[in-house]
Amino acid sequence: MKISSLPSSLSLVVYAWIATSTADALTITPHHPPAAQQIGIVRRSKQRMTAEEFSEWSENKLAGLALKYGGGSSSEKRAVGVNLLVNQQFDSSYFGTVAVGTPPISYSVILDTGSADMWIATTSSNQSQSSSGIPLFNPSTSTTFKDSNEPFQVNYGSGSVSGTLGTDKVQFAGFEVQAQEFGQVHQTTSQLLTSPVSGLMGLGFQGIASSGALPFWQAIVKSNQLDSPLMSFQLTRMNNASNARSLEFGGTFTLGAVNNTLFTGDIDYQNIPDGAPGYWILPLSGLSAEGKNVDVPSGTAAWAAIDTGTTGVAGPANVIAQLYAAIPGSRPLQGSQNFWSIPCDTDYKVTMRFGSSSINWPISSADMRQQQLDDNTCVGGFFSLPSTGMGRTPSWIVGDTFLKNVYSVFRSSPPSVGFAALSATAVSLSDPNLPVPSATLAPSPNSVGGGNNGGGGKNNSGVMSLATASAGVVTIVSVLFGAVIALL
Ligand SMILES: *[C@@H]1O[C@H](CO)[C@@H](O)[C@H](O)[C@H]1NC(C)=O
Ligand SMILES: *[C@@H]1O[C@H](CO)[C@@H](O)[C@H](O)[C@H]1NC(C)=O
Ligand SMILES: *[C@@H]1O[C@H](CO)[C@@H](O)[C@H](O)[C@H]1NC(C)=O
Repeated sequence: MKISSLPSSLSLVVYAWIATSTADALTITPHHPPAAQQIGIVRRSKQRMTAEEFSEWSENKLAGLALKYGGGSSSEKRAVGVNLLVNQQFDSSYFGTVAVGTPPISYSVILDTGSADMWIATTSSNQSQSSSGIPLFNPSTSTTFKDSNEPFQVNYGSGSVSGTLGTDKVQFAGFEVQAQEFGQVHQTTSQLLTSPVSGLMGLGFQGIASSGALPFWQAIVKSNQLDSPLMSFQLTRMNNASNARSLEFGGTFTLGAVNNTLFTGDIDYQNIPDGAPGYWILPLSGLSAEGKNVDVPSGTAAWAAIDTGTTGVAGPANVIAQLYAAIPGSRPLQGSQNFWSIPCDTDYKVTMRFGSSSINWPISSADMRQQQLDDNTCVGGFFSLPSTGMGRTPSWIVGDTFLKNVYSVFRSSPPSVGFAALSATAVSLSDPNLPVPSATLAPSPNSVGGGNNGGGGKNNSGVMSLATASAGVVTIVSVLFGAVIALL
C-alpha cells in the first residue's frame, strides 16, 4: 500500500502497509508442525542427499533424458509459462492472474516470493464485492471444488486473513494443478485488499506455508514440466512517471525459464544459506550510501528475504539509522518509528551486495525517493522493521525498491537467487503508455495432479487436463482504469 501523505497517521498506516505487502513476514503462527519447515530447503551436506533430494534429482535426470531422446510422455510439454504483471499504485504492489475452478474464473493476485500460501477472498467473506469492487470466489459455482474443512489463518501485525482450506483446479502462468490446496478467505481486515486484487499467490517454499499446502510453483517443479526449476521477474518503475495511473504495465513473470531479452550479461546466482526457513533468503554482505560503507551484521542477522510482495527494503533499526546517517538531509520521519525522510531534489547512490558476490547493485534515486510528501520531503525506500510482533521474520526484507533495479531469478535447485542487469528492452517497459495487461488464460495449460498433502503433485505429470479453459467459459476480470482504489 502507498504511504499516507499525513505524517501524523503514518505509524498506523505503516503497519497496514507492511501487513499488506509482506503477508509472510508477519506470519506468527505456522499452522503445521515445525517438521514441515524442512521441506523445500533441506540442510544439505555436499556428499549426501536425503531420500527426497535423490528422488527429485533422479526424476529430473529421467525427465531430461526423456526430452533428449524424444521418448516419454506423448503429451505436449509447455516447459515455460509467462504471466504479464500489473503495477498497482505506483510500484506499491505487482499482481498477476490465476484462474480457479471449473469453469475457470480468473482473479488478480499479488505475486509474493515472501510467502507460500495461496488465498482468495470468497463470496462468504465480509468484503462486499459491490462496494469494494473486489471480485470474490464462489466455491459453489465450481464443479471441481472440494472443501477440506480445515481452518486457515495467516496473522499479520495489524490483522489477519482467515477462512477455510479447500482444493480446486488452479491455472497460473500456463500451467495447471488439478487439486491445489488454498485458503478461501472469509474474513480480511479492511486494508488488506485493494481492488481489483482478490488474493495472493505465495511463491516461497512449503516450509513457511501457514496452510502447510504445497505451493503451486513447487507442485509444477515436482512434476518436471519446467525447462528449469526457476521463476523470474522483471518489475516496472512508475513512481517517477508524472503521467502514471494507479494501474500500469507491471512487468514480466516467467515460470520455468529466464527471458533473455530482459537482461544483459550473466545472472549472478548466490546460494540460499543452509538452514534457511523457506523464504528466498540471501545473506546481505554489503550496503553503501553515498560511497560510504554501512556495517551490516553477519551470520543469520544478515539473512534477507528477497520479497516481490514488499514495496520497500526493511532492516534492523540501528543499521537503517547508519544508512541514513550517510545521506545528507535525511531525518526520522515525524510521527513514525520506522520511516525516514530524505530531500526530494537530490540524487542518491545506494548499493546492496549479497552472498559472496562482488557486485554492488545500485538502487536508482527514483526508488530511494519512494513517496513524495511535500515539496522537498520524500519518504526513503529503506525503513526499519518494527521490533515487536514480527515472529520469525528474517532481519532484512528486500522488496521492490531493490528488485525494480535488476532482473531477478528464484531457482529451487540448487536453491539460490540470481540477479542480472536489466536490458534496454526491460528498462523501456517502465512506460505508462504501454497497455495494462488484462487477465488471460492459456488455452490448454499443462496440468499436474494434487498440490496438497505435502508430497503430492507427482502422480500424473504431463497429463493434459480434460477440462481446460476455453475462451468461451473464462470470465475475464477487467482492469478498471482510474478507479479510486486506495482503501486507506
Ligand atoms: C471483517 O471482519 C474482521 C474481523 O471481524 C474485521 O476486523 C474487519 O474489519 C471486517 N472487514 C470488513 C471489510 O468489514
Ligand atoms: C525514472 O527513474 C529511472 C531510474 O533512475 C530513470 O531512468 C527514468 O528516466 C526516470 N523516469 C522519469 C520519467 O523521470
Ligand atoms: C519476454 O518478455 C517480453 C516483455 O514482457 C515479452 O513480450 C515476451 O513475450 C517474453 N518472451 C518469452 C519467450 O517469454
